[in-house]
Amino acid sequence: MAANILIIDDEETIRLSLRGILEDEGFSVVEAESGEQGLELLGTDIPDMVFLDIWLPGMDGLEALGIISRDYEGLPVIMISGHGTIETAVKALKKGAFDFIEKPLSLEKVVVSARNGLEFSRLRQENQALKTRISSEQPITLTGESKPIADLKEVIGRVAPTESWVLITGENGTGKEIVARSIHNQSGRADRPLVAVNCAAIPEELIESELFGHEKGAFTGAEKAQEGKFELADGSTLFLDEIGDMSLKTQAKILRILQEQAFEHVGGRKTIKVDVRVIAATNKDLAREIEAGNFREDLYYRLKVFPLELPPLRDRAGDIPLLIADFMDTLVRQHGFKPIAFAPEALDVLTQYRWPGNVRELKNFVERMFIMFAGDTVTADRLPPEFKPAPRAPEPEAPTAQASPMDDLISQGPADLKQARADFEARFLEAKLREFDGNISQLAKAIGLERSSLYRKLKAYNIQTD
Ligand SMILES: Nc1ncnc2c1ncn2[C@@H]1O[C@H](COP(=O)(O)OP(=O)(O)OP(=O)(O)O)[C@@H](O)[C@H]1O
Ligand SMILES: [Mg+2]
Repeated sequence: MAANILIIDDEETIRLSLRGILEDEGFSVVEAESGEQGLELLGTDIPDMVFLDIWLPGMDGLEALGIISRDYEGLPVIMISGHGTIETAVKALKKGAFDFIEKPLSLEKVVVSARNGLEFSRLRQENQALKTRISSEQPITLTGESKPIADLKEVIGRVAPTESWVLITGENGTGKEIVARSIHNQSGRADRPLVAVNCAAIPEELIESELFGHEKGAFTGAEKAQEGKFELADGSTLFLDEIGDMSLKTQAKILRILQEQAFEHVGGRKTIKVDVRVIAATNKDLAREIEAGNFREDLYYRLKVFPLELPPLRDRAGDIPLLIADFMDTLVRQHGFKPIAFAPEALDVLTQYRWPGNVRELKNFVERMFIMFAGDTVTADRLPPEFKPAPRAPEPEAPTAQASPMDDLISQGPADLKQARADFEARFLEAKLREFDGNISQLAKAIGLERSSLYRKLKAYNIQTD
Protein backbone atom coordinates (compact mmCIF):
# COMPACT_ATOMS: atom_id res chain seq x y z
CA MET A 1 0.00 0.00 0.00
CA ALA A 2 1.30 3.50 -0.87
CA ALA A 3 1.82 5.63 2.24
CA ASN A 4 -1.09 7.95 3.01
CA ILE A 5 -0.37 11.51 4.08
CA LEU A 6 -2.82 14.02 5.57
CA ILE A 7 -2.13 17.73 5.07
CA ILE A 8 -3.82 20.17 7.44
CA ASP A 9 -3.33 23.78 6.32
CA ASP A 10 -5.76 26.63 5.71
CA GLU A 11 -3.76 28.07 2.79
CA GLU A 12 -4.74 26.44 -0.46
CA THR A 13 -1.45 27.27 -2.19
CA ILE A 14 0.50 25.50 0.54
CA ARG A 15 -1.72 22.43 0.32
CA LEU A 16 -1.34 22.36 -3.44
CA SER A 17 2.42 22.63 -3.44
CA LEU A 18 2.78 20.04 -0.67
CA ARG A 19 0.45 17.71 -2.52
CA GLY A 20 2.49 18.12 -5.69
CA ILE A 21 5.76 17.30 -3.95
CA LEU A 22 4.39 14.33 -2.05
CA GLU A 23 2.48 12.82 -4.97
CA ASP A 24 5.61 13.04 -7.09
CA GLU A 25 7.23 10.89 -4.43
CA GLY A 26 4.48 8.30 -4.86
CA PHE A 27 2.53 9.06 -1.67
CA SER A 28 -1.23 9.47 -1.65
CA VAL A 29 -2.52 12.67 -0.13
CA VAL A 30 -5.65 13.86 1.70
CA GLU A 31 -6.24 17.53 2.58
CA ALA A 32 -8.01 19.38 5.37
CA GLU A 33 -8.48 23.13 5.74
CA SER A 34 -8.71 23.29 9.51
CA GLY A 35 -7.70 21.41 12.63
CA GLU A 36 -11.29 20.37 13.19
CA GLN A 37 -11.64 18.99 9.68
CA GLY A 38 -8.29 17.27 9.98
CA LEU A 39 -9.32 15.48 13.16
CA GLU A 40 -12.59 14.51 11.50
CA LEU A 41 -10.66 12.91 8.63
CA LEU A 42 -8.34 11.17 11.08
CA GLY A 43 -11.44 9.75 12.69
CA THR A 44 -12.42 8.01 9.48
CA ASP A 45 -9.11 6.95 8.02
CA ILE A 46 -5.79 6.88 9.80
CA PRO A 47 -2.94 8.11 7.58
CA ASP A 48 0.72 7.15 7.88
CA MET A 49 1.80 10.72 8.52
CA VAL A 50 0.43 14.25 9.01
CA PHE A 51 1.66 17.68 7.87
CA LEU A 52 0.12 20.19 10.24
CA ASP A 53 0.16 23.98 10.03
CA ILE A 54 0.77 25.75 13.34
CA TRP A 55 -1.25 28.85 12.69
CA LEU A 56 -4.79 27.84 11.82
CA PRO A 57 -8.13 29.60 12.22
CA GLY A 58 -10.22 27.96 14.95
CA MET A 59 -8.36 25.20 16.71
CA ASP A 60 -4.68 26.00 16.32
CA GLY A 61 -2.01 23.58 15.20
CA LEU A 62 -0.49 23.01 18.63
CA GLU A 63 -3.85 22.09 20.07
CA ALA A 64 -4.56 19.70 17.19
CA LEU A 65 -1.08 18.25 17.68
CA GLY A 66 -1.87 17.59 21.35
CA ILE A 67 -4.98 15.66 20.40
CA ILE A 68 -3.26 13.71 17.63
CA SER A 69 -0.34 12.63 19.80
CA ARG A 70 -2.74 11.59 22.54
CA ASP A 71 -5.19 9.65 20.34
CA TYR A 72 -2.92 8.35 17.61
CA GLU A 73 0.23 7.40 19.43
CA GLY A 74 3.20 6.93 17.12
CA LEU A 75 1.68 8.75 14.14
CA PRO A 76 4.43 11.09 12.90
CA VAL A 77 3.33 14.75 12.67
CA ILE A 78 5.42 17.34 10.85
CA MET A 79 4.63 20.92 11.81
CA ILE A 80 4.62 23.67 9.17
CA SER A 81 4.91 27.32 10.05
CA GLY A 82 5.39 30.67 8.41
CA HIS A 83 6.09 32.35 11.70
CA GLY A 84 8.57 29.81 12.94
CA THR A 85 10.26 30.83 16.11
CA ILE A 86 12.55 28.55 18.03
CA GLU A 87 10.09 28.76 20.86
CA THR A 88 7.09 27.35 18.94
CA ALA A 89 9.31 24.71 17.38
CA VAL A 90 10.43 23.54 20.80
CA LYS A 91 6.84 23.58 22.06
CA ALA A 92 5.71 21.48 19.10
CA LEU A 93 8.50 18.97 19.51
CA LYS A 94 7.72 18.69 23.21
CA LYS A 95 4.09 18.01 22.36
CA GLY A 96 5.20 15.08 20.26
CA ALA A 97 5.79 16.54 16.78
CA PHE A 98 8.21 14.48 14.73
CA ASP A 99 9.75 17.40 12.83
CA PHE A 100 9.31 21.06 12.00
CA ILE A 101 9.53 22.78 8.60
CA GLU A 102 9.24 26.44 7.73
CA LYS A 103 7.44 28.28 4.95
CA PRO A 104 8.34 28.89 2.21
CA LEU A 105 8.54 25.16 1.82
CA SER A 106 11.75 23.75 0.48
CA LEU A 107 11.08 20.77 -1.75
CA GLU A 108 14.10 18.97 -0.46
CA LYS A 109 13.26 19.51 3.21
CA VAL A 110 9.68 18.28 2.68
CA VAL A 111 10.82 15.11 0.96
CA VAL A 112 13.52 14.32 3.51
CA SER A 113 11.21 15.00 6.40
CA ALA A 114 8.41 12.85 4.94
CA ARG A 115 10.78 9.95 4.27
CA ASN A 116 12.24 10.18 7.77
CA GLY A 117 8.80 10.30 9.33
CA LEU A 118 7.63 7.22 7.47
CA GLU A 119 10.86 5.38 8.18
CA PHE A 120 10.46 6.26 11.85
CA SER A 121 6.96 4.87 12.01
CA ARG A 122 8.02 1.73 10.16
CA LEU A 123 10.91 1.16 12.59
CA ARG A 124 8.67 1.84 15.51
CA GLN A 125 6.20 -0.79 14.32
CA GLU A 126 8.97 -3.27 13.68
CA ASN A 127 10.41 -2.63 17.10
CA GLN A 128 7.03 -3.22 18.67
CA ALA A 129 6.65 -6.44 16.71
CA LEU A 130 10.05 -7.61 17.93
CA LYS A 131 9.19 -6.80 21.50
CA THR A 132 5.95 -8.76 21.25
CA ARG A 133 7.83 -11.66 19.81
CA ILE A 134 10.48 -11.63 22.51
CA SER A 135 7.92 -11.39 25.29
CA SER A 136 5.64 -14.01 23.76
CA GLU A 137 6.91 -16.98 25.68
CA GLN A 138 9.72 -19.33 24.81
CA PRO A 139 10.47 -20.58 21.31
CA ILE A 140 7.68 -22.83 20.14
CA THR A 141 8.38 -26.51 20.38
CA LEU A 142 5.87 -29.27 19.96
CA THR A 143 6.86 -31.86 22.49
CA GLY A 144 6.25 -35.47 21.53
CA GLU A 145 7.80 -38.37 19.69
CA SER A 146 4.66 -40.40 18.99
CA LYS A 147 3.73 -41.16 15.41
CA PRO A 148 0.87 -38.60 15.31
CA ILE A 149 3.16 -35.82 16.55
CA ALA A 150 6.02 -36.77 14.26
CA ASP A 151 3.60 -36.76 11.31
CA LEU A 152 2.16 -33.45 12.45
CA LYS A 153 5.59 -31.81 12.62
CA GLU A 154 6.37 -33.03 9.16
CA VAL A 155 3.12 -31.69 7.73
CA ILE A 156 3.66 -28.36 9.48
CA GLY A 157 7.09 -28.13 7.89
CA ARG A 158 5.51 -28.68 4.49
CA VAL A 159 2.52 -26.35 4.74
CA ALA A 160 4.19 -23.51 6.68
CA PRO A 161 6.21 -21.98 3.82
CA THR A 162 3.23 -22.03 1.45
CA GLU A 163 0.55 -19.34 1.38
CA SER A 164 -2.26 -21.83 2.01
CA TRP A 165 -4.96 -21.08 4.49
CA VAL A 166 -5.04 -23.74 7.20
CA LEU A 167 -7.89 -25.13 9.27
CA ILE A 168 -6.84 -26.70 12.56
CA THR A 169 -9.31 -28.88 14.40
CA GLY A 170 -8.98 -30.81 17.63
CA GLU A 171 -10.38 -31.09 21.15
CA ASN A 172 -9.76 -28.47 23.82
CA GLY A 173 -6.14 -28.16 24.83
CA THR A 174 -4.69 -30.33 22.07
CA GLY A 175 -2.33 -27.56 20.96
CA LYS A 176 -4.21 -25.78 18.15
CA GLU A 177 -2.81 -22.39 19.05
CA ILE A 178 0.75 -23.58 19.46
CA VAL A 179 0.50 -25.31 16.06
CA ALA A 180 -0.83 -22.10 14.47
CA ARG A 181 2.08 -20.12 15.92
CA SER A 182 4.55 -22.67 14.79
CA ILE A 183 3.19 -22.57 11.22
CA HIS A 184 3.50 -18.78 11.25
CA ASN A 185 7.04 -18.89 12.65
CA GLN A 186 8.16 -21.24 9.92
CA SER A 187 6.55 -19.18 7.16
CA GLY A 188 7.81 -16.33 5.01
CA ARG A 189 5.67 -14.00 7.14
CA ALA A 190 7.53 -14.74 10.37
CA ASP A 191 9.23 -11.34 10.53
CA ARG A 192 5.85 -9.77 11.33
CA PRO A 193 3.88 -10.71 14.43
CA LEU A 194 1.01 -13.14 14.18
CA VAL A 195 -2.30 -11.42 14.94
CA ALA A 196 -4.67 -13.60 16.96
CA VAL A 197 -8.41 -13.19 17.45
CA ASN A 198 -10.51 -15.40 19.63
CA CYS A 199 -13.93 -15.27 18.01
CA ALA A 200 -15.66 -16.89 21.00
CA ALA A 201 -14.27 -14.48 23.59
CA ILE A 202 -15.50 -11.35 21.80
CA PRO A 203 -19.15 -10.37 22.20
CA GLU A 204 -20.96 -11.20 18.97
CA GLU A 205 -21.89 -7.58 18.19
CA LEU A 206 -18.24 -6.56 18.26
CA ILE A 207 -16.65 -9.31 16.19
CA GLU A 208 -17.09 -7.55 12.86
CA SER A 209 -15.65 -4.30 14.06
CA GLU A 210 -12.79 -6.18 15.71
CA LEU A 211 -11.99 -7.98 12.46
CA PHE A 212 -12.71 -5.33 9.86
CA GLY A 213 -12.33 -2.11 11.84
CA HIS A 214 -14.91 0.64 11.93
CA GLU A 215 -15.51 4.23 10.95
CA LYS A 216 -16.14 6.97 13.44
CA GLY A 217 -19.82 6.88 14.44
CA ALA A 218 -20.43 3.46 12.88
CA PHE A 219 -22.22 2.48 16.10
CA THR A 220 -22.80 3.95 19.55
CA GLY A 221 -19.48 4.22 21.29
CA ALA A 222 -17.39 4.29 18.10
CA GLU A 223 -15.83 7.65 18.91
CA LYS A 224 -12.98 7.30 16.52
CA ALA A 225 -12.14 5.18 13.53
CA GLN A 226 -10.28 2.02 14.33
CA GLU A 227 -8.35 -0.45 12.25
CA GLY A 228 -9.43 -4.06 12.40
CA LYS A 229 -7.33 -7.17 12.85
CA PHE A 230 -7.30 -7.86 9.11
CA GLU A 231 -5.48 -4.55 8.53
CA LEU A 232 -3.13 -5.18 11.45
CA ALA A 233 -2.31 -8.55 9.96
CA ASP A 234 -1.54 -7.10 6.50
CA GLY A 235 1.58 -8.91 5.28
CA SER A 236 1.32 -11.35 8.16
CA THR A 237 -0.84 -14.17 9.49
CA LEU A 238 -4.22 -13.83 11.16
CA PHE A 239 -5.10 -16.57 13.61
CA LEU A 240 -8.88 -16.90 13.83
CA ASP A 241 -9.42 -19.01 16.90
CA GLU A 242 -12.76 -20.71 17.69
CA ILE A 243 -14.04 -19.96 14.20
CA GLY A 244 -17.04 -22.21 14.83
CA ASP A 245 -18.43 -19.48 17.09
CA MET A 246 -18.67 -16.88 14.36
CA SER A 247 -22.04 -15.58 13.17
CA LEU A 248 -23.19 -16.46 9.64
CA LYS A 249 -22.94 -12.80 8.67
CA THR A 250 -19.32 -12.57 9.71
CA GLN A 251 -18.63 -15.86 7.94
CA ALA A 252 -19.95 -14.33 4.70
CA LYS A 253 -17.49 -11.45 5.04
CA ILE A 254 -14.62 -13.77 5.78
CA LEU A 255 -15.46 -15.76 2.69
CA ARG A 256 -15.26 -12.62 0.60
CA ILE A 257 -11.83 -11.79 1.98
CA LEU A 258 -10.74 -15.28 1.17
CA GLN A 259 -11.83 -14.76 -2.43
CA GLU A 260 -10.83 -11.13 -2.97
CA GLN A 261 -8.58 -10.15 -0.06
CA ALA A 262 -10.79 -7.06 0.24
CA PHE A 263 -13.32 -5.70 2.74
CA GLU A 264 -14.81 -2.50 4.15
CA HIS A 265 -14.78 -1.01 7.63
CA VAL A 266 -18.03 -1.34 9.54
CA GLY A 267 -19.95 1.80 8.51
CA GLY A 268 -17.49 2.52 5.72
CA ARG A 269 -17.52 2.43 1.95
CA LYS A 270 -13.88 2.39 1.00
CA THR A 271 -12.68 -1.02 -0.05
CA ILE A 272 -9.50 -2.00 1.73
CA LYS A 273 -7.15 -4.49 0.19
CA VAL A 274 -4.88 -6.58 2.34
CA ASP A 275 -2.54 -9.49 2.00
CA VAL A 276 -3.37 -11.81 4.87
CA ARG A 277 -2.88 -15.50 5.44
CA VAL A 278 -5.52 -16.96 7.71
CA ILE A 279 -5.07 -19.89 10.03
CA ALA A 280 -8.39 -20.87 11.57
CA ALA A 281 -9.00 -23.19 14.48
CA THR A 282 -12.00 -24.76 16.16
CA ASN A 283 -12.85 -27.55 18.56
CA LYS A 284 -16.26 -27.92 16.96
CA ASP A 285 -17.17 -30.53 14.43
CA LEU A 286 -17.77 -28.15 11.54
CA ALA A 287 -19.42 -30.79 9.38
CA ARG A 288 -22.05 -31.11 12.12
CA GLU A 289 -22.34 -27.34 12.44
CA ILE A 290 -23.05 -27.15 8.71
CA GLU A 291 -25.84 -29.67 9.06
CA ALA A 292 -27.28 -27.66 11.91
CA GLY A 293 -27.16 -24.54 9.71
CA ASN A 294 -24.62 -22.76 11.90
CA PHE A 295 -21.69 -22.81 9.53
CA ARG A 296 -21.43 -21.97 5.83
CA GLU A 297 -20.53 -24.92 3.73
CA ASP A 298 -18.68 -22.85 1.10
CA LEU A 299 -16.50 -21.27 3.80
CA TYR A 300 -15.77 -24.69 5.25
CA TYR A 301 -14.50 -26.00 1.94
CA ARG A 302 -12.44 -22.88 1.25
CA LEU A 303 -10.88 -23.06 4.70
CA LYS A 304 -10.22 -26.72 4.38
CA VAL A 305 -7.59 -25.92 1.78
CA PHE A 306 -5.29 -27.45 4.30
CA PRO A 307 -6.91 -29.32 7.18
CA LEU A 308 -4.90 -30.30 10.24
CA GLU A 309 -6.53 -32.55 12.80
CA LEU A 310 -4.79 -32.64 16.17
CA PRO A 311 -4.97 -35.94 18.04
CA PRO A 312 -6.32 -36.02 21.60
CA LEU A 313 -3.66 -36.72 24.20
CA ARG A 314 -5.15 -40.13 25.07
CA ASP A 315 -4.41 -41.27 21.52
CA ARG A 316 -0.75 -40.54 21.98
CA ALA A 317 -0.37 -41.50 25.61
CA GLY A 318 3.24 -42.47 24.95
CA ASP A 319 4.08 -38.75 24.89
CA ILE A 320 2.75 -38.17 28.40
CA PRO A 321 6.00 -38.90 30.32
CA LEU A 322 7.90 -36.70 27.86
CA LEU A 323 5.44 -33.84 28.20
CA ILE A 324 5.56 -34.13 32.00
CA ALA A 325 9.36 -34.02 31.92
CA ASP A 326 9.22 -30.99 29.67
CA PHE A 327 6.78 -29.06 31.83
CA MET A 328 8.79 -29.97 34.95
CA ASP A 329 11.94 -28.71 33.32
CA THR A 330 10.35 -25.36 32.47
CA LEU A 331 8.97 -24.93 35.97
CA VAL A 332 12.32 -25.67 37.58
CA ARG A 333 14.50 -23.66 35.22
CA GLN A 334 12.30 -20.68 34.52
CA HIS A 335 10.25 -20.34 37.64
CA GLY A 336 12.73 -21.61 40.21
CA PHE A 337 10.50 -24.39 41.62
CA LYS A 338 12.15 -27.17 43.64
CA PRO A 339 12.19 -30.29 41.43
CA ILE A 340 9.70 -33.10 42.00
CA ALA A 341 9.71 -36.70 40.79
CA PHE A 342 6.91 -39.04 39.71
CA ALA A 343 7.00 -42.62 40.95
CA PRO A 344 6.64 -45.22 38.15
CA GLU A 345 3.19 -46.40 39.37
CA ALA A 346 2.04 -42.79 39.37
CA LEU A 347 3.23 -42.39 35.78
CA ASP A 348 1.32 -45.56 34.87
CA VAL A 349 -1.87 -44.11 36.27
CA LEU A 350 -1.25 -40.85 34.41
CA THR A 351 -0.70 -42.55 31.06
CA GLN A 352 -3.95 -44.45 31.44
CA TYR A 353 -6.05 -41.46 32.40
CA ARG A 354 -8.32 -40.03 29.67
CA TRP A 355 -7.16 -36.39 29.87
CA PRO A 356 -10.39 -34.76 28.62
CA GLY A 357 -8.63 -31.38 28.74
CA ASN A 358 -5.64 -32.81 26.86
CA VAL A 359 -2.21 -31.14 27.03
CA ARG A 360 -3.54 -28.07 28.84
CA GLU A 361 -4.97 -30.27 31.58
CA LEU A 362 -1.68 -32.12 31.84
CA LYS A 363 0.26 -28.88 32.07
CA ASN A 364 -2.01 -27.51 34.80
CA PHE A 365 -1.78 -30.81 36.61
CA VAL A 366 2.03 -30.72 36.66
CA GLU A 367 1.92 -27.18 38.05
CA ARG A 368 -0.47 -28.29 40.77
CA MET A 369 1.85 -31.13 41.76
CA PHE A 370 4.75 -28.68 42.02
CA ILE A 371 2.80 -26.50 44.37
CA MET A 372 1.79 -29.42 46.56
CA PHE A 373 4.90 -31.59 46.55
CA ALA A 374 7.89 -29.30 45.88
CA GLY A 375 11.15 -31.20 46.44
CA ASP A 376 9.29 -34.49 46.92
CA THR A 377 8.11 -37.58 45.02
CA VAL A 378 4.57 -37.93 43.71
CA THR A 379 3.45 -41.47 44.39
CA ALA A 380 0.25 -43.02 43.02
CA ASP A 381 -1.61 -42.54 46.31
CA ARG A 382 -0.77 -38.85 46.30
CA LEU A 383 -2.53 -38.25 42.99
CA PRO A 384 -5.69 -36.13 43.17
CA PRO A 385 -9.11 -37.86 43.25
CA GLU A 386 -9.80 -37.69 39.51
CA PHE A 387 -7.01 -40.21 38.96
CA LYS A 388 -8.37 -42.71 41.47
CA PRO A 389 -10.30 -45.66 40.02
CA ALA A 390 -14.04 -44.88 40.06
CA PRO A 391 -15.58 -45.71 43.47
CA ARG A 392 -17.70 -48.89 43.58
CA ALA A 393 -21.44 -48.36 43.34
CA PRO A 394 -22.95 -48.11 46.84
CA GLU A 395 -24.60 -51.26 48.27
CA PRO A 396 -28.40 -51.08 47.93
CA GLU A 397 -28.96 -51.16 51.73
CA ALA A 398 -26.25 -48.59 52.44
CA PRO A 399 -28.15 -45.28 52.16
CA THR A 400 -29.12 -43.88 55.51
CA ALA A 401 -32.35 -42.09 56.23
CA GLN A 402 -31.26 -38.51 55.48
CA ALA A 403 -28.66 -39.23 52.80
CA SER A 404 -29.00 -36.86 49.83
CA PRO A 405 -26.84 -36.31 46.75
CA MET A 406 -25.66 -33.10 48.38
CA ASP A 407 -24.36 -35.03 51.41
CA ASP A 408 -22.40 -37.29 49.10
CA LEU A 409 -20.94 -34.31 47.37
CA ILE A 410 -19.91 -32.84 50.70
CA SER A 411 -18.40 -35.97 52.18
CA GLN A 412 -16.46 -36.87 49.05
CA GLY A 413 -15.57 -33.34 48.03
CA PRO A 414 -12.65 -31.13 48.98
CA ALA A 415 -12.27 -29.56 52.43
CA ASP A 416 -11.55 -26.12 51.03
CA LEU A 417 -14.53 -23.84 50.37
CA LYS A 418 -13.08 -22.16 47.31
CA GLN A 419 -12.28 -25.52 45.73
CA ALA A 420 -15.73 -26.87 46.64
CA ARG A 421 -17.37 -23.89 45.00
CA ALA A 422 -15.25 -24.32 41.88
CA ASP A 423 -16.04 -28.05 41.75
CA PHE A 424 -19.73 -27.33 41.99
CA GLU A 425 -19.56 -24.64 39.33
CA ALA A 426 -17.70 -26.94 36.97
CA ARG A 427 -20.19 -29.78 37.44
CA PHE A 428 -23.12 -27.43 37.10
CA LEU A 429 -21.81 -25.92 33.86
CA GLU A 430 -20.96 -29.30 32.44
CA ALA A 431 -24.46 -30.62 33.09
CA LYS A 432 -26.14 -27.47 31.79
CA LEU A 433 -24.01 -27.45 28.68
CA ARG A 434 -25.18 -30.97 27.90
CA GLU A 435 -28.75 -29.89 28.53
CA PHE A 436 -28.34 -27.10 25.97
CA ASP A 437 -26.70 -29.41 23.50
CA GLY A 438 -23.43 -27.52 23.60
CA ASN A 439 -24.99 -24.20 22.56
CA ILE A 440 -22.98 -21.61 24.49
CA SER A 441 -25.08 -18.59 23.52
CA GLN A 442 -28.30 -20.23 24.70
CA LEU A 443 -26.73 -21.49 27.90
CA ALA A 444 -25.28 -18.08 28.67
CA LYS A 445 -28.70 -16.52 28.30
CA ALA A 446 -30.36 -19.20 30.44
CA ILE A 447 -27.98 -18.85 33.36
CA GLY A 448 -27.54 -15.09 33.11
CA LEU A 449 -23.87 -14.91 32.16
CA GLU A 450 -22.16 -12.98 29.37
CA ARG A 451 -21.33 -15.37 26.56
CA SER A 452 -17.67 -14.41 26.71
CA SER A 453 -17.37 -14.95 30.46
CA LEU A 454 -19.18 -18.26 30.23
CA TYR A 455 -16.73 -19.21 27.55
CA ARG A 456 -13.78 -18.28 29.77
CA LYS A 457 -15.19 -20.33 32.64
CA LEU A 458 -15.69 -23.39 30.45
CA LYS A 459 -12.14 -23.06 29.26
CA ALA A 460 -10.79 -22.64 32.81
CA TYR A 461 -12.59 -25.81 33.90
CA ASN A 462 -11.46 -27.69 30.80
CA ILE A 463 -15.02 -28.41 29.80
CA GLN A 464 -15.35 -29.69 26.24
CA THR A 465 -17.53 -27.35 24.25
CA ASP A 466 -18.12 -29.32 21.09
N1 LIG B 1 2.79 -30.78 21.75
C1 LIG B 1 2.90 -29.89 22.75
N2 LIG B 1 4.08 -29.68 23.35
C2 LIG B 1 4.19 -28.79 24.36
N3 LIG B 1 3.18 -28.08 24.85
C3 LIG B 1 1.97 -28.24 24.29
C4 LIG B 1 1.77 -29.14 23.20
N4 LIG B 1 0.48 -29.08 22.84
C5 LIG B 1 -0.11 -28.20 23.67
N5 LIG B 1 0.79 -27.67 24.53
C6 LIG B 1 0.50 -26.70 25.59
O1 LIG B 1 -0.79 -26.97 26.09
C7 LIG B 1 -1.52 -25.77 26.30
C8 LIG B 1 -2.75 -25.77 25.42
O2 LIG B 1 -2.38 -25.63 24.06
P1 LIG B 1 -3.17 -24.69 23.05
O3 LIG B 1 -3.61 -23.45 23.73
O4 LIG B 1 -2.37 -24.56 21.84
O5 LIG B 1 -4.44 -25.65 22.82
P2 LIG B 1 -5.77 -25.39 22.00
O6 LIG B 1 -6.00 -26.60 21.19
O7 LIG B 1 -5.70 -24.09 21.31
O8 LIG B 1 -6.83 -25.37 23.16
P3 LIG B 1 -8.34 -24.73 23.16
O9 LIG B 1 -9.17 -25.49 22.21
O10 LIG B 1 -8.78 -24.95 24.56
O11 LIG B 1 -8.17 -23.29 22.79
C9 LIG B 1 -0.58 -24.64 26.00
O12 LIG B 1 0.01 -24.23 27.20
C10 LIG B 1 0.46 -25.26 25.08
O13 LIG B 1 1.68 -24.62 25.21
MG1 LIG C 1 -6.91 -22.40 21.55
